[in-house]
Parts: sequence; structure tokens; C-alpha cells
Amino acid sequence: MSARRPAAVIVLAAGEGTRMKSRRSKVLHELCGRSMLGHVLAAARELEPQRLIVVVGHRREQVIGHLAEHAPQAEPVVQERQGGTGHAVRTVLEQVGTLSGTVVVTNGDHPLLRGETLAELVRTHEREGNAATVLTTEVPDPAGYGRILRGPDGAVTAIVEHKDADEAQRAVREINVGMYAFDGELLEAALKQVTTDNAGGEEYLTDVPAILRGQGHRIGAFTAPDWVEMQGVNDRVQLAQARRLLNERIVEAHMRAGATVVDPATTWIDVDVVTEPDVVIHPNTQLHGRTRLEEGAEVGPNATLTDTVVGAGAVVSNTVADRAEIGPEASVGPFAYLRPGTRLARKAKAGTYVEMKNAVVGEGAKVPHLTYVGDAEIGQGSNIGAGSVFVNYDGVRKHRTVVGDHVRVGSDNMLVAPVRIGDGAYTAAGSVIVSDVPPGAMAVARGRQRNIEGWVERKRPGTPAAEAARRAAGRRADESDAGGDAGA
Ligand code: UD1
Ligand code: CA
Repeated sequence: MSARRPAAVIVLAAGEGTRMKSRRSKVLHELCGRSMLGHVLAAARELEPQRLIVVVGHRREQVIGHLAEHAPQAEPVVQERQGGTGHAVRTVLEQVGTLSGTVVVTNGDHPLLRGETLAELVRTHEREGNAATVLTTEVPDPAGYGRILRGPDGAVTAIVEHKDADEAQRAVREINVGMYAFDGELLEAALKQVTTDNAGGEEYLTDVPAILRGQGHRIGAFTAPDWVEMQGVNDRVQLAQARRLLNERIVEAHMRAGATVVDPATTWIDVDVVTEPDVVIHPNTQLHGRTRLEEGAEVGPNATLTDTVVGAGAVVSNTVADRAEIGPEASVGPFAYLRPGTRLARKAKAGTYVEMKNAVVGEGAKVPHLTYVGDAEIGQGSNIGAGSVFVNYDGVRKHRTVVGDHVRVGSDNMLVAPVRIGDGAYTAAGSVIVSDVPPGAMAVARGRQRNIEGWVERKRPGTPAAEAARRAAGRRADESDAGGDAGA
């Protein structure tokens, strides 16, 4: 299967990308968790090239920064002036010197391209001993693309750009995808003969095959059967189309590997997400970054998980989570928000309208309703009453709360950090806990209740409340009469 390692892959990414109407470099726009350029580089890396070169020009500082962060092995080469695709490759060869062996050139705006397709291009090139091999495909609407011209024997003779093509040539539906394999030394020599004598006034890389053929060298083509994969992205409409197609491909791969996806059309999965067998993904779920769903986990509907681990058998419904670790058989949501640093142990629960940040929740511990837990540790088997707040912020600094094992925090508690609640302790409902609670103690921290009898009838006479109170007082009197002397 594997081809020899090419001498280089050159990715063309210096163009302006005017139609994106963006301050961001076109090739840095993202789909499925990776930039367009990142997808192309991933495909290129599958060839294991000896050098991976990216031609940068427009917004080069952005692209160079992106490469340094995400693809440090890629070498940026600056093309000061965008003189065309041929000029771009000539600039590379002038800067890095002669490349002997197979040199692959690809456009940077084809995020759907598979590494396997590039490998097939290289295999065809080397098997046939070509000087140049062009990746082609037949499309329903070839407008804008370079057309492939073939001789009577079917051999490729030239590529003609749309702008330069006559009517008969424009009728050709076989197009130049923008990926090529070349013999490096022949490419270098041919580029010196490329002129700007064309409708675009540019040095076209697409002139190289005809030049080499004119010198008696063999030109070949690898015609890809799936034109959908060959689509480039020039504007945001095409970006959205490419994103949908790539997402379909990713979701399908997860299903084939054993994930149930209830509604593929509303399920969005980034390239680096991992799912184990028997996970269930309900509609409207987005799995971003390095999210991992372990065996049998159930996620969604309406879940957005970023860089989050969901343990085996856990259930996560209607939830937003970012950099959280959800333990096996844990239960999250509906309507939970787990922020970075949340770690739920096995069988822990973060229930409805619960927000957590930088919080470690022990095995089987439950935070079921309406609660904020920030900068905290909750021991195993503890229960946090509804409506409680871990008050972690004093207006200037954040502080920690530590709740021990098997603690019962009452409903509507404010745990004012820094504070510790010992193992097995209880706190009364409505408490504001400002000092530590020893293990096993009951903490009550609230005003004692006082009832002022008859207050409503005296202070709010004539209101429906006063009326209701009066009727209740009457009923009470009747009841005590009935319960008293029957003869009265
Ligand atoms: C190019 C091909 C065309 C092919 C099409 C496929 C040429 C002359 N034409 O046309 O046959 O059908 O791709 O999408 O090659 N770039 C540079 N430096 C430059 C000019 C371009 O790096 O000076 C880069 C662009 O960033 C882009 C790629 O080269 O990634 C292609 O350039 P673009 O201007 O988009 O070429 P097309 O007109 O699409
Ligand atoms: Ca293009």
C-alpha cells in the first residue's frame, strides 16, 4: 500500500481569499475542530514527506503563528508578492534549493481531501514513472476550474484555466483539482519557462505539464471517483458545505465503530473526538476538541461538550461542559454547566440547574438541584441541598470549600469560603456557614423563627390575606367549639 516517502509536500496558502471577506486568513477558518490548512496538513502528513512546506503570503503572521502552534514540523516559505501558483512553487524552490524525487503540490483550501487520495496520486505517479501527475475529477459544474485536455490517445496534454479556455474547452467537465505529483528536478526546470502570458497575468503552475510534455516527458492523471471530496472552499457558503460533508464523514465513522447516533444531521463531531462502542448520542449534540465518550455513555439531547471525558455508562443530558471529567455512571443535567476543572467521580451527580467550576465531587456524591459549586471538594456520598451556593469569591480573591464524606448540607445553604465541613456533619436548611463545622456536628446558622400572632389583620386590614386569616381564625374557633362541650 504505502508509497515511498516523497521528497516534499508543498502546500499553497499565500492567496488572499478575498471572497471570505474576513480579517482572518482564509486557510485558518475552521471546520470540525481544525483549520482548513490543518486538514490539508493532516492529509499531507499521511504521506510522511521528508519536508512539509507551506507557502505563506497574505496575513502570513497569522499563518506562521498557527503553524508554530499546530504543525511545528511544517516550514513556512514567504511569497512576498502573489504572482500565481507557478510563482509560488518557484519561490519555494529558489529558497529551499533543488528537491530530488517526488514533490507533491496541493492547494491549501481543500479541507475534504483525504490522505489516502494523495497517496493514490503518488502511487500512480511513481508506478507510471511520470514527470508530472495531475489529480483530476469530473464535476457537474466545472465553471472556474482549470480544465484537463487530453489527446486522441487519452493522455493528458495540458491544463487550460477557465479564463483562458475557449467554448469547446469550457465544455470539458474533467477538472484540475489543484493537487499534483512532480519529479522535483524536472519541475524546477519547467518553472523557469512558465510565462505570465495569459488572462490572469500570473505564472500558472498549470502550465508545467504541457511544458514537460513538450520536452517529451510523460504526463499522467489520477482521476478521483468522488468529486465531492475534491471541492475547494472560496467563501463562507462553501465553508459551511464542506463542514457539513466532513461532519457526515466523521459521524459515519463513529457509527461504523459502534456509536449510536440518533440524528446524524444535528450531531456535530470534531476530528479528534473519540467514542467507544455502545455510546448513544442524542440529537443536537456537539462534541468538540478532544472529547472522549467511554463505553455505553449516553449524551444529549442538546449537549455541547468541549475537551470533556464522559466515563462508561454516564448520562449527560442538556448540558454544556468544558474541560470536565465526568466519571463512570455519573449523572449530569438536564441543564447543567460544567466548567474547567470539574471532576465528577463514579456515580456522582450534577443535576438540574447546577453550575460547577474547579470542583472535585467524590464517588456517589450528589448535587441535585439549583446549585453553584466553585473551587470546592466534596467527599464521597455527600449530598448538597437544593439552592445552595459555594460562595468562593470575596470580591477580590477566590477561596476553597472542603466538604467531607457523607455530609448532608441542607437546602439553601451559603458555604462562605474558605470553610471546611467535617465528615458526616449536617447543616440546617437556610444556613449561612462561615466557620468550619466539626465532623458529625449539626450546624445551624440562621435566625430563630418568631411568629407575631394577628399581625396581618392588624396591619393589613381589608386585604384578601386578612380576609383569609379571619376565615381561618373562625374555622379554628368552630373546631375547638365542636371538640369542646357538646351541650353548649
Ligand atoms: C487553481 C488552478 C486551477 C484549479 C483550481 C482548483 C492555477 C493557475 N489554477 O485555480 O486549475 O482548477 O486551483 O481549486 O493553479 N496561491 C499562492 N500564491 C499565489 C497564488 C495562489 O500561494 O501567488 C495559493 C492560494 O492561496 C490557493 C492556491 O494557491 O491555496 C490556489 O490559488 P487560487 O488563486 O485559488 O487558484 P484557482 O483560481 O482556484
Ligand atoms: Ca481556489
